[in-house]
Order: sequence, then structure tokens, then C-alpha cells
Amino acid sequence: MRVGTGVRWMSAYTPPQGDTSTSPRPKKVTIGHLRQLWRTKTPITVLTAYDFPTGRLCEKAGVDITLVGDSLAQVCLGYESTTQLTMDEMIHHCRAVARGSKLPFLVADMPFGSYYSIDEAARNAFRLIREGGVDAVKIEGGKDIIKTVAKLTAIGIPVMGHIGLLPQRHTVFSGYRVQGRLANRAASIVADAFALQSAGVFAIVVEAVPAPLGAYITENLQHVPTIGIGAGKATSGQVLVINDALGVAEWAPKFVRKFGNIGEKAEEGAKAYIQAVRNREFPDNEESYFMAGNEWRKFIHELGGSSTKSTWVDVTSNGEDSSESTASLNDFSLPTLAGFMEEADIVEVDSQESKLEEPISEVSISEEPQPEIPKPEEPKPEEPKPDESKSAESKPVVPPSQQ
Ligand code: KIV
Repeated sequence: MRVGTGVRWMSAYTPPQGDTSTSPRPKKVTIGHLRQLWRTKTPITVLTAYDFPTGRLCEKAGVDITLVGDSLAQVCLGYESTTQLTMDEMIHHCRAVARGSKLPFLVADMPFGSYYSIDEAARNAFRLIREGGVDAVKIEGGKDIIKTVAKLTAIGIPVMGHIGLLPQRHTVFSGYRVQGRLANRAASIVADAFALQSAGVFAIVVEAVPAPLGAYITENLQHVPTIGIGAGKATSGQVLVINDALGVAEWAPKFVRKFGNIGEKAEEGAKAYIQAVRNREFPDNEESYFMAGNEWRKFIHELGGSSTKSTWVDVTSNGEDSSESTASLNDFSLPTLAGFMEEADIVEVDSQESKLEEPISEVSISEEPQPEIPKPEEPKPEEPKPDESKSAESKPVVPPSQQ
């Protein structure tokens, strides 16, 4: 009997936890590590993630900070704007990302409306950390939210600031516009940065401001790194929405560079799959399971039926046509038959007899007692229609490779 060590089924594969063999940095990123990067002028890398696979991707790629941005609202949930995202939705996605992204420092956006008072902000930040499994929260705003930020940092919640373009306030800003092109607005953004620094944030996202302003803020903050998005090349680090960076989205803002072409590749793949299914090219034998010849004979014998409609020929791996074994496909519905074949994968078989049983290398097989395969009802005798029985005889159903 094959016995596996873990639980998996198809692509829902949970890789060994803590496997960091592909990660260039095998340790959990901390605020201390981020400060070290900043001090040594090493750019801090940040990517958004919204679910387990993108979280896992961030970890494998070796990003410093994984951000569960509230861009989740538009990128994954199809909302018009980030203002529609709820705390519960955010937490749900944070939990998934946290399961995949264990080593990068994990930050979550506080959704719109979740920090309108200091108490609400603290309550919701605790939820993101406790229930969502993140390390820190990000809040949009500057001078206007400084008391809230100061309270959170004072009670031990690490906060990342976010200034410049504030997507949660797109209605107030009359859209998503570059901020700080005018001198007085630029000065106001700088004041926001200083206020956040004094409130104890560990980093500040600076979004959609002129590059010189991004550089000015970065050079003049004494304690805090800046993470730019559309803020030029001089910021202490960069962040992009992962879907934009990998080319998933159809449209992306000017400040995005496409580092991949996932959208087109994914569409190509999906179309190829549809085509293969429609042409009956998928699955083929390599992608199918078979029973040992003996088991098939026993199975047919159990049924006690003989085919009047179709013949299922069981073959062994040496290519022999094993017997006269036949069964009427009308004796049971196809889903039932599929169910039986699935069960056959966990039935212990003599290895001598089971040459057709390829090892299912990554599928774990438990040692639980084998379920009893229910015996189908006796096939009801049915008069074959003359032309059907003729076609069944002339067209045995055999694996394509044996035809
Ligand atoms: O929500 C988000 O993804 C963000 C980043 C773009 C900074 O805030």
C-alpha cells in the first residue's frame, strides 16, 4: 500500500511549510531588517498580494514587504473603488496571504471607514493582526490622522503611512490625480510626511507625486524610509500592485512597468484548454488512471453483466487484451462509474498485478480501511436495439493508445 505523509489533492498542494530553499533570504523580515536596508541605502522591495498563491509568490521571489493592499477591492473583488471593501473581506484575504507569505514583513491596509475614530482604528488594527495574521497596518492620510497613528504606534501596532494620492479619497480628489504638482500642495505633503514620522510610523508610502518631491521627502526624513509608487526613483523603496507588475490587468497607470505578461499567457492557456477539451484531446492516457487487469475482471464479474451496448476492454501494461470482460455502460450511470474508478486508486493491489498502477507520486494515500464499493443493482435485462448492439460490437471502448 502506498502511504503518503501529507494531505494533498491535485493542485491544492500545500508545500512543506517553512521550505525556504528557493528564497534568497531564509529569515523572517522584521522592522529592524527594514531599517538596516534603509540605513545601507538598499532599496526596499514591496509587492501587493491578495491570496495564498500571490502571497507564496512574494515569498518565493524574496520580496521584503508583502502588502495586502486595499487595491484588493478592484483588483480581485471587482469593486469600483477601494471604499467598498469591508473589514471582514480584508481579514479573509489577509489570512490567505499570511498562509503563503510567512517570511516577508506582512502589512495590511486598513479599509476605508475602519479608522474614523481612535478606538475604531485600534479595534480594527487588532483584528487585522490577530485574525488576519499580519505584522503591521497601513493607513492613508497625514496630519489629519496623526492622533490615530500616534495611538496605534504607542500601543504597539506598527503603522505604515500613505501620503500623496490617497485612493480612498478619490471622490474628494475628483479622481486619481497626481498630487503635489503645485507648490502649496507639495508643501502640505511634506508636512504630512513629517507628521507621520513624529507619530512613529516605520515607513511611508508616497503615491503619485512628482519625482523631485519624492526625492525631497526621502532625503529630509530622518528616521523613516519612503516607499514610492509613481514617486520617482529616489525613494527608499518601491511598491507596485502585483497584477500591474505582472501584466495581469488590461490597463495600468503610467508609473507601472510590466515585468511579466501573465494576462495574455493566462488567456492563451485557458483557450488552449477549452480547445483541447472540445477536440477530445484532453485528457489522454497519460493523464488518466487505470485499473489492474485482474481488478477490472473482478469488477466486471461482480456486476455479473455482459455488454449488449458497449464493451470495455481492460488491458494490462504489457498491452495484452486481457479478456472478454464486458459490461453494459447502461448498467450504471457514468458518474457512478467514475466514482468506482476513483476508489480503485486507493485499493491495495498486488504490485505484480498492478503494472498499470503508476505511482501517484504526490498524492498521499491514507491507511484507512478501504471503503466498501457498493454493488450496483443487477442490470435490468434490456432488449438491445438491433443497430445499437451492432455498433457496440464493432466499436469497443478501449484506451486510445490501444486502438
Ligand atoms: O492598496 C494598495 O495596493 C496600495 C499600494 C498601491 C501602495 O496602497
